[in-house]
Amino acid sequence: MSQYDVIIIGAGPGGYVSAIRCAQLGLKTAVVEARDTLGGTCLNVGCIPSKALLHATHSLHEAQHNFADMGLKGKAPSVDWKQMKEYKSNVVGQNTGGIEFLFKKNKIDWLKGYGTIEAAGKVKVGDTTYETKNIVIASGSVPSALPGVEVENDKGIVVDSTGALDLPKVPKKMVVIGAGVIGLELGSVYARLGSEVTVVEYMDAVCPGMDADVQRSFKRILEKQGLSFIMGAAVQGVEATKTKAKVKYQPKAGGDEEVLDADVVLVATGRKPFVEGLGLDTVGVKLTERGQIATDAHWATNVPGIYAIGDVIEGPMLAHKAEDEGMAVAEVIAGKHGHVNYGVIPGVVYTTPEVATVGATEADLKKEGRKVKTGKFMFMGNARAKAVHQAEGGFVKIITDAETDRVLGAAIIGPAAGDMIHEICVAMEFGASAQDIALTCHAHPTYSEAVREAALACGDGPIHS
Ligand code: NAI
Repeated sequence: MSQYDVIIIGAGPGGYVSAIRCAQLGLKTAVVEARDTLGGTCLNVGCIPSKALLHATHSLHEAQHNFADMGLKGKAPSVDWKQMKEYKSNVVGQNTGGIEFLFKKNKIDWLKGYGTIEAAGKVKVGDTTYETKNIVIASGSVPSALPGVEVENDKGIVVDSTGALDLPKVPKKMVVIGAGVIGLELGSVYARLGSEVTVVEYMDAVCPGMDADVQRSFKRILEKQGLSFIMGAAVQGVEATKTKAKVKYQPKAGGDEEVLDADVVLVATGRKPFVEGLGLDTVGVKLTERGQIATDAHWATNVPGIYAIGDVIEGPMLAHKAEDEGMAVAEVIAGKHGHVNYGVIPGVVYTTPEVATVGATEADLKKEGRKVKTGKFMFMGNARAKAVHQAEGGFVKIITDAETDRVLGAAIIGPAAGDMIHEICVAMEFGASAQDIALTCHAHPTYSEAVREAALACGDGPIHS
């Protein structure tokens, strides 16, 4: 008889959420995790520590730039980097400890070590092989390598996001390779700490794939905050010494190779599924051309009894997408109907201002030949945003079907955008129209009024512009 109904490999947001839901559904569940703490990349070296540093450095920015204006006088605080990292570690500890508590509460076993699948129904951890009816692979992702660039986090000169969260000191000059989510969030952190930050990006716009209006405003706002950008430039290699590095890049428009000096180089050029050591070859689990585990609509791989979710399969590498899949696959395994609506998965960049998007972009819909209407409202017309020095340059944009007024997507750049986007997510889940949002009473004064105004802009027009 199997020891477990489900063994989940990986305790990140996909794996731990799936485990809790499996346990709630009455399945005997274990999670294999090699890290000393639960929570995976997100809690240990991703979403959570970066948010702690973003909060701390945003507070510093407020003290330096906005306190005097609000009548708060006195010297701006100086940075105790060691203490800031300590605070970050405490935030991480509270969260990872919280997952451990939830595991105990739900009677989930933590099998400590790396898991290898020996066959369907058999997972080896250390010297022990455990038997299980189902296996869920939730092993996540790792930073992808850039040819000609060797990341050595322990040396603190050429680092990935993990190394950038734990630099020994704040660098004078930082070069960030890649203007994606990681590059811009961590680039913001160090710019606020006083580093001279230059972002080198291959594409012509930041955050490739995002709404073009947002891309333009976002870059402009970040430039005002002191970040410099070199766009349309492909990094060819990095030469590092013990204390410095040289970043070589080739402008796409042509011309000679250029070189940038840096004290620290952050490589943020994407992540790849982490499948090494899982034994997929042995059991014959198929991968896609891009190295992801191939799954069907119910997260089942080609091998019966083996499922996969999160960063290791297709789709955006986002903690909340993994969580949703984790819950859904648990339902499927328990014989219920798990479902994820991939059309309504928000994406958020936690800079100041925040950037949040959901659904289709205007450009994509137009490419498909769909007739769309857009309603846009600038935060300059929002009383609350003005009170917190975040009105400039931000906006809410809602995209609807031109005939039915149904909401198809939205983009927000402004204060608390990452929270406000959910009003639009719920509207989309219910197939709401922009008019439905516009007719809903919104409290005053809130940032969310800008969402209502953008919805009004899809109809007869907003009030405050
Ligand atoms: P990304 O895919 O978002 O951005 C990588 C950028 O690097 C792209 O803009 C690409 O054009 C550029 N690039 C690639 N090779 C280059 C080269 N040789 N020279 C110059 N530029 C080059 O990847 P990122 O930021 O590393 O994030 C990885 C994953 O983690 C993403 O899927 C992201 O969504 C996720 N993530 C999400 C967060 C959030 O939701 N707030 C936070 C952090 C990560």
